Formats: sequence, C-alpha cells, structure tokens
Amino acid sequence: MRLVVLVSGSGSNLQALLDACRDPAYGAEVVAVGADRDEILALERAEKAGVPTFVRRLKDHATRPEWDAVLTEAVAEHEPDLVVLAGFMKLVGPVFLARFGGRTLNTHPALSPSFPGTQGPADALAYGVKVTGCTLFVVDAGVDTGAIVAQRAVPVEDDDTAETLHERIKVAERHMLVDSIGRIAREGLRVEGRRVRFGRP
Ligand code: GRF
Repeated sequence: MRLVVLVSGSGSNLQALLDACRDPAYGAEVVAVGADRDEILALERAEKAGVPTFVRRLKDHATRPEWDAVLTEAVAEHEPDLVVLAGFMKLVGPVFLARFGGRTLNTHPALSPSFPGTQGPADALAYGVKVTGCTLFVVDAGVDTGAIVAQRAVPVEDDDTAETLHERIKVAERHMLVDSIGRIAREGLRVEGRRVRFGRP
C-alpha cells in the first residue's frame, strides 16, 4: 500500500511509520512526504530515510483554492492508496477531498468528539477530564469531525502541563497510527457512513 504522509512539525508520527515500513511484512510504504512549510524536522526525517519530499506553502499562492489544487496535484503525482495527515496543521480543501476523500486519515490528540482543533491537550487539561487520548479518523470537510477509525485512551495526571500531557498522548498516537495503518494495509478499511471497520468491503 502506497502512503503519502503530510506533515508540519517534528514528525515523530512520521518516524514511527517510516520505521514500521522497513519491515516488508508491514505491507505499506511511504512513497512521499509533503509539507506546508520548510525547515521542519519532519522533512529531515523523510530525507534521511531516502523518501522524496515536497513543500507547498499556502503563502506562495494567491488564494486558498489555488493552494488546495496545487497540494492535491503534488500528492496525486505519487499515486497514493492512502494519504496520512501526521501533524499536518492545515485543513485540506474541497479539491483535495474530491480526489482523496475516504482515503485520507488524520490523527488528533484528543478523544473525538471532545476537544477538536489545534489545542486538544490544553483544552482537555483546562476542562479537567481525567482521561483523554487520541483519535485516527477519515478526513472530511470539518475540523476533526470525520468518521473514527481508532482511538486510544490516555490518563491525565495531576501534575500534567499541556506539554507533558501531549507528549504522553503522542506515544499512544504513534502506536495507534502504526497498528491501524498496518491493519489497513493487510486487511483493508470499510467506511460505511460514520461506521468504520477494518476489512474488505
Ligand atoms: C500530533 O499530536 C498530532 O496529532 C498533532 O500534532 C502532533 C504532531 O506531532 N496535530 P509530530 O509532528 O508527529 O511529532
């Protein structure tokens, strides 16, 4: 299964996938890594693994729809079976979803539908929940609203800061991502409305 991974940051989730893909039995291969910004650790990780990279920055384009089309084209060139947003901090647009909808997954550092958006760990801490976690979902037009593929629970500790909580969530997130992508490669993924399960249709 051909994966294109989109990133914006440190790329620890990407690294976990790159490491898993070294085993041929895993069944997936990262064929390209794309970013919406340059000079990030995630791109260095891809280059170190010998994976082609591309950068498509929103600010280089006159409009968001234009960026959406350019990003879609860059991803399409690598003919992915699945696109994984691994810490990609932009919403993909309608052109992207028309092409890759149903086969684009994103990870979110909270238990959906709680705490959508970019501050999942801080929002969970502020609310005072005792358990939070991470969610892998099929990307739709909303913010972290897509159909849920997998979730992992993570306890909130009394002395947590947003940073320590996020780091603990990221450990669970990496396992969730690697386990789920491997299962999708080997077993397939059935998306029936909001109900998602592993297996062939
Ligand atoms: C992850 O927690 C992801 O869910 C969030 O940002 C983090 C990315 O971490 N949106 P990394 O770049 O994979 O290290």
